[in-house]
Amino acid sequence: MGSQRYWSADNVQRYCKSATGRTRRGALLVAGVAAAVVGFVASASHFQRAEMATMIPKTEETEISEKCKKFMSPPCTDVKVLQQKKEGMCTRMEMLIMETQAEFCRALEEVDGGKFKVDKWERKEGGVGISCVVQDGKVFEKAGVNLPVVFGNLTEEAAEQMRSRGKVLKGKDGILPFCAMGVSSVIHPKNPHIPTVHFNYRYFEIEEEDVPGTKQWRYRPDSYLCQ
Ligand SMILES: *[C@@H]1O[C@H](CO)[C@@H](O)[C@H](O)[C@H]1NC(C)=O
Repeated sequence: MGSQRYWSADNVQRYCKSATGRTRRGALLVAGVAAAVVGFVASASHFQRAEMATMIPKTEETEISEKCKKFMSPPCTDVKVLQQKKEGMCTRMEMLIMETQAEFCRALEEVDGGKFKVDKWERKEGGVGISCVVQDGKVFEKAGVNLPVVFGNLTEEAAEQMRSRGKVLKGKDGILPFCAMGVSSVIHPKNPHIPTVHFNYRYFEIEEEDVPGTKQWRYRPDSYLCQ
């Protein structure tokens, strides 16, 4: 699950440069969310099969509704749907990222004294997200924790791109349903001697036809400090 090989030093340096550029800061938080979806597809050549399933916790139905009350906002997917599909990896991953977002935001609030503004948004093309931002607090100039969840059918173009990297992808009637989600954060402390912190944990899954229930998935964690 190491991430370093997916990021060349050059890439990270370029990211860090734009992350610390003042004019790019606001844009970066928004761009991060949009890029997450593109990134899932673009980087989906390194799939592995589901040994990881055992590492992502399962949640019981009643537990799901209890846990949802503690999130920054109601979850992206309807609670009833999450309960119906509680065994599925997409549900387990959504619960995990929602929990991560809430825990991380609460911890930052404790340090900063400010309150996160929560914005739940919807993309026309499909997908829901929850963005939390705190600004001009005691400690942080700006800190954002973003979480997109997207369900869709892979476009033929994206499927072709993945096939060109050696993936056999065969959907039922040419349809390849996918789910893509993640949680990312960019934190700019006020103190110029403290580095900007960034992390981005993403999950991407495609359902194939050849063996019923066959799924290809990929989890990709990235985190780094920028100076
Ligand atoms: C994917 O395509 C199928 C078949 O056309 C459709 O029923 C389904 O709603 C689509 N899924 C999404 C998430 O758009």
